[in-house]
Amino acid sequence: MGGRYKCYGCFSLFNHSRVTTIEKFINTFLALYYMKIFKKNTKKVVVIGMGYVGFPLACSIAKNKNYEVCGYDIDESKINKVKNKISPVEDEQAEKDIKKVKINATTNPDIMIGAKYIIICVPTPVDKNKNPDLTPIIKTTETILRYLEKGQSIILESTVNPGVSEENVLPILEKTGLVGGKDFELSHCPERINPGDKKWNVYNIPRNIGSLTIEGNKRVADFYRSFINAEINEVSSLKAAESTKIIENAFRDINIAFVNELAQSFDKMGINLDEVIKGASNKPYAFMPHYPGCGVGGHCIPVDPYYLIQRAKKSGFDHKLLKIARKVNTNMPRYTVMKLVSALKEKGINICGANIGLLGLSYKANIGDMRESPALEIRELLKKLGANILSCDPHCNGNADAKINDILEHCVGVVLATDHDHFLEIDDWKSVEVIIDGRNCLNKDKILNSNIVYQGIGLGA
Ligand SMILES: NC(=O)c1ccc[n+]([C@@H]2O[C@H](COP(=O)([O-])OP(=O)(O)OC[C@H]3O[C@@H](n4cnc5c(N)ncnc54)[C@H](O)[C@@H]3O)[C@@H](O)[C@H]2O)c1
Repeated sequence: MGGRYKCYGCFSLFNHSRVTTIEKFINTFLALYYMKIFKKNTKKVVVIGMGYVGFPLACSIAKNKNYEVCGYDIDESKINKVKNKISPVEDEQAEKDIKKVKINATTNPDIMIGAKYIIICVPTPVDKNKNPDLTPIIKTTETILRYLEKGQSIILESTVNPGVSEENVLPILEKTGLVGGKDFELSHCPERINPGDKKWNVYNIPRNIGSLTIEGNKRVADFYRSFINAEINEVSSLKAAESTKIIENAFRDINIAFVNELAQSFDKMGINLDEVIKGASNKPYAFMPHYPGCGVGGHCIPVDPYYLIQRAKKSGFDHKLLKIARKVNTNMPRYTVMKLVSALKEKGINICGANIGLLGLSYKANIGDMRESPALEIRELLKKLGANILSCDPHCNGNADAKINDILEHCVGVVLATDHDHFLEIDDWKSVEVIIDGRNCLNKDKILNSNIVYQGIGLGA
């Protein structure tokens, strides 16, 4: 465990009966010097998972010199990057932080020996049938089990449905014979990081935290307070903490589904939803703008609602609204492609055999994360319709097959799926005759001055 003290043999250096003032001064100076060098009072923290959540978190903890921070991952390429002081994820803050902090990164789980805090930041995906897949969490917990010691705090940061900590994680840890809440603490502190966000980062986003015991919760909350400069709200249970994160993302999914449904209805009625949302937003209370688009992506919003839906079902409740929201949002790539098909038809062009450019593969602007990206579904649908697809994404090197110019020069139709800054700068669309703006981000008026058919999502056409 952390907090080991070395003995300070130097104290005897001037240990004779008559010491002068100078000798006393030197004695004190040396004692302080040796204390500084040998007194190892840091607590060991192991962060499991060097991804979008774990790596920025590890950096933020490492800034506090009271902690010796270790990063453990099964992905050797990520560990090598950390060792070479390169951020394994696109995160502006973490890219700067890693140059200044020390993280002992490894694929060897023995690093967990003697850790005071072990923080789990592994993925929580869904399988192909949209059922929660807890395999990464279970496997990680089974690894921790081998190193569990009295006095440790195990903290789950991955997003999970209410119940996972107590129903899935705790029983594995207690196989050691150690008792949760007595011998070790189990806490859940859901992460809220928003990759690519210039204002909100791991240092300033408030947190909620729940644990097995009130005392343990306070201890772990104080640990978070030592490196996060924002509110750390202690909630009364693990389930309450787990639920906060799930409802945040379900809330987003439902609201986005609402505007996506409005987009389809307003397209039929010829009403510009963008203008309507702007108007509704000047209500000083109760309205919160959400915007339609070609689909919802990332590792959170299109995934987390399924965790709640499935767990509630187990308890006998059917989340009808959440299921409908998911259905509306997963249909948006198809809606976008169908818009392209009919806009091309207006120009007398058949999609089968046409050169179609896909601008953007990642799920959101200016990052390269393609998990659950609607662009991938759009690409599949275009393929099925027989289009020749050229895809371009400056943030997803290796996954795209064209440059912006290739698309502008060779494609008759374009679907913009991601609002990367690069695409906003295009002002000569060259051979393009039809644009479907899946993020309503292009300068519509400028495009409409040319001979191009331009349509957004819910812009009334
Ligand atoms: N990405 C986000 O924006 C975000 C925001 C808030 C919360 N979350 C949640 O945080 C969790 C992690 O997400 P992420 O985006 O950081 O995922 P990620 O894929 O970027 O990183 C997870 C890391 O865990 C590693 N890993 C997987 N299994 C492991 C194991 N058994 N042992 C050790 N390492 C293992 C992977 O190799 C990977 O490097 C998820 O539950 C997610 O829902 C993500």
